[in-house]
Amino acid sequence: MLWAVTLRMRGTPMPDFGPDSFESAPPVTGVDVPLHRAWAEVDLSAIEANIGRLAEAAPTAEVMAVVKADGYGHGLIPSARASRRGGAQWLGVALLEEAIALRDAGDSGPILAWLPVPGDKFFECVSRNVDLGVSAPWMLTQIAQASAVAGRAARIHLKIDTGLGRSGAAKADWSALVREALAATRRGEVEVVGIWSHLAYADSPDHPTIGRQVEEFEDAIATASRLGLEPQYRHLANSAATWRLPQTHYDIVRPGISVYGISPGEEVGTASSLGLRPAMTLGARIVMTKRLPAGSGISYAHQYTTERETTVVLVPLGYADGIPRSASGRGPIRVAGKAHSIAGRVCMDQFVVDVGDDLVRDGDEVVLFGPGDRGEVDVNEWAQQADTIGYEIVTRIGPRVPRIYVGGA
Ligand SMILES: Cc1ncc(COP(=O)(O)O)c(C=O)c1O
Repeated sequence: MLWAVTLRMRGTPMPDFGPDSFESAPPVTGVDVPLHRAWAEVDLSAIEANIGRLAEAAPTAEVMAVVKADGYGHGLIPSARASRRGGAQWLGVALLEEAIALRDAGDSGPILAWLPVPGDKFFECVSRNVDLGVSAPWMLTQIAQASAVAGRAARIHLKIDTGLGRSGAAKADWSALVREALAATRRGEVEVVGIWSHLAYADSPDHPTIGRQVEEFEDAIATASRLGLEPQYRHLANSAATWRLPQTHYDIVRPGISVYGISPGEEVGTASSLGLRPAMTLGARIVMTKRLPAGSGISYAHQYTTERETTVVLVPLGYADGIPRSASGRGPIRVAGKAHSIAGRVCMDQFVVDVGDDLVRDGDEVVLFGPGDRGEVDVNEWAQQADTIGYEIVTRIGPRVPRIYVGGA
């Protein structure tokens, strides 16, 4: 016989367990059986609205929503679609396969991918009309080869290192790269549509390197112009610069973290002062609760000991899900509407919270961070407690944590 089971799940269709799946199951009737032990709820309408705020902050520029690293952990395709709906003219990614995934999902607007490795999927990108960032001569060579096979000129953006000291051509190599790009243009292999760079200290808006980087950027543009290269687009600004450095807006701004409703740093502002809505809420369900006497050691190496008789709850999230081990003993974790700290060490799949005498039940919701609707902190505040930044927390939420989408079109 098949037992009567009421399954209510967050955001996903009922899975097909098959007729025999419950044959030997105990009778569970009329209760909520949550499918997800933990989830990252992603509000796509927040992403849409955040793009609108960023566009207001840079009214003279187009917006390139940076959706690399799986949309900063929010999901590549849903984040990209929400960004387009919000008005992003461009999408920006690091990896070529991220750009290919966007095209294969049906995105037909401008996309820039900027972190190729030798032998990368240049042909797949050129044939899909993906723009490519070029920092080094070998990239130009391999892109030219791909364009010959694809039978079309590749659209490229030449990158100058203006002082971040990461990718981009060194100042001493810039003229040679421009000359090579011009030669490839004459051969019909490439079309240079942009010159770009990236800032080292945009989240410290008064930092002296910013003026120097803008000068270096202007110099590189002038050098290219003298050599006969005047591309349509110049771009330099990330989220922080979009908010605070209008002199860096040029033709396109490239915000990433703020697309997801997160401030790039304290000196720039808070999510609410910037008019952003955090898109992600990280939650879980309590696996079990138990009463323990005073003096009970909790989790590996007993780094926490109960001071008196108390209730502890087991939360099924751990460092395999992206909760840093450095969050051991820290918080806040909202359990049944109240803020608590993690008791002892974060383990691979779970951690424990001491809730004192609060009334909590198995299956109750636990919230780590989110937009604040339930009193939870935002991800930057949460990250600070774990000695890291919001960027790292959202991008490292693991694949075991399902993304539940709300607010989508
Ligand atoms: C080249 C480039 N542009 C833009 C961004 C977006 O930066 P942010 O997320 O700080 O807005 C990044 C992110 O790391 C980047 O690498």
